[in-house]
Amino acid sequence: MIYITRKEHFSSSHKLENKGLSQEKNEEIFGKCNNFHGHNYYIEVTLAGTPDSQSNYVMDLKLLKKIIGEEILDKVDHKFLNETDMFKGIIPTTENMAVIFWNVLADKVKRENVKLYSIKLYETEKNYVEYRGEI
Ligand code: NI
Repeated sequence: MIYITRKEHFSSSHKLENKGLSQEKNEEIFGKCNNFHGHNYYIEVTLAGTPDSQSNYVMDLKLLKKIIGEEILDKVDHKFLNETDMFKGIIPTTENMAVIFWNVLADKVKRENVKLYSIKLYETEKNYVEYRGEI
């Protein structure tokens, strides 16, 4: 198996809030993140597969770039995540974002020789989450 990765960047704002809880409880759980603020996110999309017999690529990374751009970046870059269709009713923690991005991309990147392997999402230089499709 060969693993290929495309890294992309986007900037989004969000507010972490559980609408089922009181303002006090939200402040206790989320602290500063209960306020409107932004992040410079980095996403790494890794596919696992075998080289195609004609191209000898697992997947042309230009194609993976295009898919990530259309399915993710166009919908979240410079947006307030809480008000996007993608995160309607979902608290946009890095964990939830990685799962949603997996769900959006899994079918789009799947070919006979390749499938989605992991989504890594960096919220800061020091904090990132990784999701591999099982919960
Ligand atoms: Ni945040």
